[in-house]
Amino acid sequence: MTPSTAADAVAAAAAHVDAGTGSGDVGALLDRHGRVATDLRVSLTDRCNLRCQYCMPAEGLEWLPTDETLSDAEVVRLVRIAVQRLGVHQVRLTGGEPLLRRGLVGLVAEIAALRPRPQIAMTTNALGLARSAQALSDAGLDRVNVSLDTVRPDTFEHMTRRDRLADVVAGLEAAAAARLTPVKVNAVLMRGANEDQAGELLRWCLDRGYQLRIIEQMPLDAQHAWNREQMVTAAETLERLEAEFDLTPTGRLRGSAPAEEFLVDGGPATVGVIASVTRPFCGDCDRVRLTADGQVRNCLFAREESDLRAALRSGAGDDEIARRWQTAMWGKRPGHGIDDPRFLQPVRPMSAIGG
Ligand code: GTP
Ligand code: 5AD
Ligand code: SF4
Repeated sequence: MTPSTAADAVAAAAAHVDAGTGSGDVGALLDRHGRVATDLRVSLTDRCNLRCQYCMPAEGLEWLPTDETLSDAEVVRLVRIAVQRLGVHQVRLTGGEPLLRRGLVGLVAEIAALRPRPQIAMTTNALGLARSAQALSDAGLDRVNVSLDTVRPDTFEHMTRRDRLADVVAGLEAAAAARLTPVKVNAVLMRGANEDQAGELLRWCLDRGYQLRIIEQMPLDAQHAWNREQMVTAAETLERLEAEFDLTPTGRLRGSAPAEEFLVDGGPATVGVIASVTRPFCGDCDRVRLTADGQVRNCLFAREESDLRAALRSGAGDDEIARRWQTAMWGKRPGHGIDDPRFLQPVRPMSAIGG
């Protein structure tokens, strides 16, 4: 159930923590605007094997050095603190590309062994997922969201700068076969590249039982090339889709979900739009992020981070880490401020935050 007020959310987080530890020492991840973070997005690496135009430059991005990246034990410790002391109940693994993290299956198994057990999802480009989907599912991964912007090989190569469409398609099939469901497909539309392919993508996803969500491009590209006027808006996407399909609101409560969902031709299949820029959902945000080098980001667009890796490595106990995490959340700003003339893009590109 989605809590309807901040007080409900705090009570739900408290009940969850009590159920797991019996300790009763609750510390929800609250901010001063009454939001409660229960969804932890963990970036496992800043590396990627694609170079999507809206995310990474063609070349020249420096990777985090290994010694600055959290070890598996450090990741699991921070996730444990979040789950057992701070009310987090959904963990999403992201990157860069999380499948590039060595030992991913073992990491998933350790997170799945935590009590209370969090829901575990992963956002991936699916390259190599054909080989690992079943092992990940067996280890406890619940579901995946796969980034795929086009089903045309030439457009794929243009947008990702790599010729790997067939691997993504195979990865999607393996995910469905391994019951990493619902399998969701995330597509970003870019002017002049795939803006006219929403209908084609939707048909392709409907035929295979994947849930398509079309995302507005956000100013998070490493080359700072984003431009509001060029952006394909959710309104434009919906207009294009409505020329081919009958779309009706699902009537389901959206809660904190970024996606607004519509039934396609009466349902039960759905399509979603994620209108981060034109219809922001910050007021209902329940997300907190951890970067691969152990920094807490209270917002995708945060300009400050809190260094939990330094705390971990200087011997801080769980209580102190939990308190630092709460302090970092308290200062979360009410919204991303993309429309504010003083808006500044975060220093880290999307590939180092994990979406
Ligand atoms: P589900 O629970 O499966 O619906 O996941 P999700 O949509 O929250 O996660 P996913 O990683 O698939 O993200 C889809 C798109 O939503 C990506 O472009 C994300 O960057 C964007 N997104 C996710 N969380 C946030 C957020 O907190 N703020 C903004 N502005 N965009 C977000
Ligand atoms: N704007 C919107 N979505 C983006 N993604 C990556 N970069 C951007 C951007 N600049 C999406 C990816 C992936 C998810 C994590 O974020 O397509 O599905
Ligand atoms: Fe949450 Fe920040 Fe995303 Fe808004 S932009 S929904 S506050 S993470």
